[in-house]
Amino acid sequence: MTATVTVNQHDRYQVGVRDHLMLHFSQHAKLRDGVEIPVIDRAEGVYVFDTSGRRYLDALSCLFCAQLGYSYGAEFASAATKQLTSMPFNTTWNTAHPAAIELAERLADLAPAGINRAFFTSGGSESVEAAWKMVRQYHLANGEPGRVKAVARRTAYHGVTLGALSFTGIPAFKEQFGPPAVEVGHAPNTNRFRAPDGDDLTAFTARILAETEETILAAGPDTVGMLIAEPLQNAGGCFTAPDGYWPGLRALADKYGILLVADEVITGFGRLGEYFAVSATGTTPDLITIAKGLTSSYAPMGAVMVSDRVAEPFFRAGQTLMHGITFGGHPLSAAIALQNIEIFERDRILDHVRVLTPHLKTRMHALAELPIVGDVRGDGFFFAAELVTGAGNERLGDADRDFLVRQYIPSRFREAGLIARADDRGEPLVQIAPPLVSTQAELDTVVDALHDVLVDAGDKIGLSDGR
Ligand SMILES: Cc1ncc(COP(=O)(O)O)c(C=O)c1O
Repeated sequence: MTATVTVNQHDRYQVGVRDHLMLHFSQHAKLRDGVEIPVIDRAEGVYVFDTSGRRYLDALSCLFCAQLGYSYGAEFASAATKQLTSMPFNTTWNTAHPAAIELAERLADLAPAGINRAFFTSGGSESVEAAWKMVRQYHLANGEPGRVKAVARRTAYHGVTLGALSFTGIPAFKEQFGPPAVEVGHAPNTNRFRAPDGDDLTAFTARILAETEETILAAGPDTVGMLIAEPLQNAGGCFTAPDGYWPGLRALADKYGILLVADEVITGFGRLGEYFAVSATGTTPDLITIAKGLTSSYAPMGAVMVSDRVAEPFFRAGQTLMHGITFGGHPLSAAIALQNIEIFERDRILDHVRVLTPHLKTRMHALAELPIVGDVRGDGFFFAAELVTGAGNERLGDADRDFLVRQYIPSRFREAGLIARADDRGEPLVQIAPPLVSTQAELDTVVDALHDVLVDAGDKIGLSDGR
């Protein structure tokens, strides 16, 4: 491995981070105490390189973003150059431009039937907030001003700007920031591990749908405007939805006059082998939020896709869509998103994910044989393994949990040259979401590394290693 920058530059960046850069969701005291963070200055294929020359396999696609990995820069650059040298910026506020129009057309083609319009944003939280405001205006226009509340799911992450934070179901992220902007009831997610229904999926599905209905009834069905859920919930660890669950959500939404939003900020654009993962549930939501993979993150962009029904009131005489974001639909991002779709089609990215999913699933599920792994779940290129204390699947004690999730596993991942997530927003777990272009050999490298780290983690807390 060759260092890409001189030692002095490496040190200079560490000082620059410490003295001038505020990091997202980070403990800055560590920087003051001299802890170094990886400064990534190069990327290629599924790998990123830091300024000390260390190589990491990015098995998290840099927060579920880098669907295509990192080697398509030249193609995206030429799409960007074409756009920037013809028309670098305009808005979609009462004017429009070709890139945004063409992208909206392409997305309408790819979305479930009946979802035909796109409102562009700069990212996921903005998409969620824009969805909520459209939902509000839809109900107002239809004579239902009392629909001021929403239902989301426990432990779900829908963003942390103040509007989106209302829907996020992780108390620790919310409690410092006062009352939520929107009153939201939190219903069960689709976590089947330790559920009282055992292997009875039908009973499980019926129970959580019944509890979701109770959440709606408790809020007052006439006061609920929106029901928001991810097709596969990220936070808490890759909770897959059982058959019948999404049709059940659709039925509840219809029964109570609520609009159903599929938050596909992570699941959209191929993570589960579909452009829109909700398509595979046989359900059409009323709105879909996307971001991250829409451009494979070669530029920032998000969107809210809306059904003809949701769009209809906005076409009535005198109605104004009371929302706008300066950079929503930026021509550069729209050109990049169009190029992204072009590459997805040309390189058959969805087929690639579909072909390798069974292999990755089998390999990930084999980790359940380790005593420290209680449950493995996920789909597509998106899996989590929940950590336990061995046979009996007892929960880890606070000290072990803290040690493993915040210290031991992240540092072992770094040593192994692997970027993966150790997380305990719900139960403690490790999670992967490799770039969608990963080869079978690269997926195997990820799972092998995960296996070795988990064996050692088990040893650290006194479990037999399972080798
Ligand atoms: C499901 C979901 N919705 C919304 C968001 C917020 O997206 P952003 O961080 O781009 O604002 C995220 C971010 O990870 C997400 O996973």
